[in-house]
Amino acid sequence: MKTNITTTTILSLQTPCLVLGIFSDQNLSGSTAAVNTACKGGLEKMRETGDIQTAAGKTTLLHHLQGVAAERVLLVGMGKAKEFDAAKFSSTCQAAGEQLRDLAFDTAASCLHEFEIKSKSADWRLRQSVIAIGNANYFYTATKAPKADGPKPLKQLALVCTPEHTSANTVLQQADAIVSGYNRARTLGDLPPNICNPVYLAAQADEIAAAYDNCSSESLNTTQMQELGMQALLGVARGSRNPPRLIIMRYNGADKDVKPIVLVGKGITFDTGGISIKPGANMEQMKYDMGGAAGVIGTFEACAKMQLDINLIVIVAAAENMPDGDAYRPGDVITSMSGQTIEVLNTDAEGRMVLCDALTYAERFNPAALIDVATLTGACVVALGHHASGLMSKSDSLVAELLAAGDEIIDRAWRLPLWDEYQSQLDTPFADMKNIGGMPAGSITAGCFLSRFAKDQNWAHLDVAGSAWKWGTQEGATGRPVGLLSQYLIDQSGK
Ligand code: BES
Ligand code: MN
Ligand code: ZN
Repeated sequence: MKTNITTTTILSLQTPCLVLGIFSDQNLSGSTAAVNTACKGGLEKMRETGDIQTAAGKTTLLHHLQGVAAERVLLVGMGKAKEFDAAKFSSTCQAAGEQLRDLAFDTAASCLHEFEIKSKSADWRLRQSVIAIGNANYFYTATKAPKADGPKPLKQLALVCTPEHTSANTVLQQADAIVSGYNRARTLGDLPPNICNPVYLAAQADEIAAAYDNCSSESLNTTQMQELGMQALLGVARGSRNPPRLIIMRYNGADKDVKPIVLVGKGITFDTGGISIKPGANMEQMKYDMGGAAGVIGTFEACAKMQLDINLIVIVAAAENMPDGDAYRPGDVITSMSGQTIEVLNTDAEGRMVLCDALTYAERFNPAALIDVATLTGACVVALGHHASGLMSKSDSLVAELLAAGDEIIDRAWRLPLWDEYQSQLDTPFADMKNIGGMPAGSITAGCFLSRFAKDQNWAHLDVAGSAWKWGTQEGATGRPVGLLSQYLIDQSGK
């Protein structure tokens, strides 16, 4: 979706579809009021008779209104004015975007950013509306052709702004970059596991980096990882015909001596559970087990598009977890790259196995902050559902920054404790640790496991098992936490 600013007055704006907001319980204002006046109070009357739906996210399409150059007006219900907040603003814009997609418009113009929200600026509203409408217009086509008469993604969105809104173009650039990042992450997530395997992810990383002068990408193969002693990552990969890759993407936006922010993604392109095999039902959903990788790659792309003045390194631990005669097995003791030994009690706890070596590898970059992102535990879905990513870290300041970034862009996280008391759940007589901590606090013990490989780092862990994708009728990758991480990088670049 491309975007542009228009300062044409609302009544003379020519567009196939003009998008206006309407509260259920407040006098019409702004562009909505202007259109209402032009059509002699028509909107007001239709609201009174119930012909315009005003519940939050409900829409009504009107054709050829008197006094309005736009061919159609899409009225978007915003519910009660008192209940309208930043999250509702976002979901309302999303709903509008979904209508535009389902009605298959090529172009449209939106005024939704007009509506004020407590403690949010005009820039915030403009950016958030573009992100939400852009996200709603993601469309998967890689292995399914779109229907000729079906929904189509919006190609061009005009944002109706006053000439005084001088920062609007800069805001749009940022929004476009973030939407591209989300799109990239969603496409990678939605691709089937027979296409999106570790080698494919590495090729995608190369392609993305090649598009920018100040980016580069490389990946390590099995032999190179053997030389580094990455036996934990390689242990997981052993059961698969698809070879693993450790992908390293570099973005240089600041002086060489500025410490980089390092993002590490879990890239299990399919998780069968291995020898501790998962039940058959819904196993296809484990194609999303590279959601962490997709999120950090998408964030890399957003950062490159914004050309932030930071240094960024993205590392992806890419492998497939399969059962095989050569697969790693429960009872195996494996020496990780860090030298710490791990007793494998469940081959389905593979995410932490690949991530621990990637975290050790990340040390060499001397990160200013080290953040890993992973669809790590089913327990996180139980704890937080699909609305929040689980955040774990010993660093209160890093937690505060990440939570604030998520709140700002409405891609929210919630902290879980990482107290030392949980660590003993990983004790075993046969190794430095086992790879599972039992039933209690499954997400936290997974975080505890990872913490042992980032001891001296300014490190945080985001469990996106519930947030990176959704199931049901609207099944698909969400692209999260591209928003949270992009906002975090923007915040860091401003320092
Ligand atoms: N990829 C899964 C986690 C997952 C489960 C993500 C459901 C999304 C939805 C992970 O590799 C896994 O299998 N974790 C196990 C850990 C257990 C063996 C300690 C789990 O959550 O059951
Ligand atoms: Mn697993
Ligand atoms: Zn997994």
